[in-house]
Amino acid sequence: MIVKIKTDKTNPSNKKTQMLCTLIFEKSNEPLGLGKFNSKINALVKQSLKEIKGKVGDLSIIQTLGEIPAQKILIAGLGPKNKITLDVLRRVSGIVAQKARSIRLVEFSIIVPENFPIDVKSMVSAIVEGTTLSMYSFNKYKKEKNEKSPNLSILISKPNVVQDIISKSQIISDAVIFTKSIANLPPNDCSPTDLAGYAKAIARKNKLTCKVFSKKELKEKKFGGIIAVGKGSINEPKLIVLEHYKGKRNDKPIVIVGKAVTFDTGGISLKQSEKMDEMKFDKCGGCTVLGIMKAVSELKLPLNVIGIIPSVENMLGRESYRPGDIVRLYSGKTTEILNTDAEGRLILADALSFGEKKYSPRVIIDFATLTGACIVALGNNVAGLVSNNKKLASDIKNSSERTSEEVWQLPLNDDYMDMIKSNVADMKNIGKGRAAGTITAAAFLANAIGNTPWVHIDIAGTAWTQDATKNKSYNQRGATGFGVRLLLDYLNTLKN
Ligand code: BES
Ligand code: ZN
Ligand code: ZN
Repeated sequence: MIVKIKTDKTNPSNKKTQMLCTLIFEKSNEPLGLGKFNSKINALVKQSLKEIKGKVGDLSIIQTLGEIPAQKILIAGLGPKNKITLDVLRRVSGIVAQKARSIRLVEFSIIVPENFPIDVKSMVSAIVEGTTLSMYSFNKYKKEKNEKSPNLSILISKPNVVQDIISKSQIISDAVIFTKSIANLPPNDCSPTDLAGYAKAIARKNKLTCKVFSKKELKEKKFGGIIAVGKGSINEPKLIVLEHYKGKRNDKPIVIVGKAVTFDTGGISLKQSEKMDEMKFDKCGGCTVLGIMKAVSELKLPLNVIGIIPSVENMLGRESYRPGDIVRLYSGKTTEILNTDAEGRLILADALSFGEKKYSPRVIIDFATLTGACIVALGNNVAGLVSNNKKLASDIKNSSERTSEEVWQLPLNDDYMDMIKSNVADMKNIGKGRAAGTITAAAFLANAIGNTPWVHIDIAGTAWTQDATKNKSYNQRGATGFGVRLLLDYLNTLKN
């Protein structure tokens, strides 16, 4: 746990702390929950309220010089009251924690006020997520590390009500950080074998079952897509399966699939060199699944949940698959290869078919950095969603709203399915030109499954910070862990 968090019902005016943080809405002169102090401090608070406008992330620090037990008061702006959201709270909490760390505090306190427009449990979970996630940045390979993160006291009148939500939010935040830290690894330190090693490690620690299929087994079991894409690299492909059985014996499981291309050169259809380094993030879907499974087991969710991660490195080599090849997928369907850079759908198709056949799941959800077209369509702050089932799509959209991990649904109908028909095989692996690239990719995936309710989430634009990514304190440069909080929220709705 990167931030130690406890609750405290001490009145803010009596709280001994290095920094007492109070939140404030824009154009208000009432720091929330702060209460009154002696006249000196009251005057200082009043003075600093004149100086800050209370816009999102505005900060003002008051030195209290021994007048009260708190050494400093920090006033933090939330923006206008009618625009307050959980994500604003997450971002502001992150900014506050980063401020505390930058002035080398050992601990600080945040006041949770009585009358806030958002319910207290959601508010506390946003504070935990914001403070915890903002303390992570990718510095594994740097000599200079971050300062130690300060501890947090949450000042609240009824601590018992939020104890449970704090520990849950801590598990979820740790899972997001875990996902980011694997997703950020460079491709020379994260092969499919390395990724399988991380999966085995969480399985051991958290009592999940983990099965890793070797190249030999994948060949024998006819995972034609994974084998084709994986052939060009000396780093052998793997299929990683994590199982969590804590639901009723006969409950159908939820299957979650994630694309993990540890590096995507494009293969023979080689990518341009500009930004090719970012293709280390082509494993983000798989890393999201790892984080979800870690949290699912730590939260002991009373559900059956299966994580499936097809992992390959898409390289050029004398054994690479080629444009023109015809490949038989796990489903038995054949596909013509017209572009070796459209590799994600091939490995995902195998994993989806396997997941449906082996587990007869109630739903299947996949995460993949699948198409550049998704960035063109939706930018860097909204993921693409394609589904064959209205109810499931709507459930996922509800979780998306609660977690501020935004999605937008794109259509899928037979016309799109027709766009990937081939003259020489059952399918081809790209559509017609650049038209509807995200949807034709999803249409390819839809061919891999039967009637199981399915949602596909294209995280090409949101899995790591890119040109147009909105600045958020809780997402430092690099992988964002997009999808972990979203899916854990969805799973949480299923457990009742
Ligand atoms: N991993 C890429 C998609 C991608 C590109 C994600 C850039 C994030 C940023 C994927 O394997 C790919 O290369 N897709 C091709 C498909 C095309 C050949 C039909 C693409 O999007 O260009
Ligand atoms: Zn590619
Ligand atoms: Zn790719």
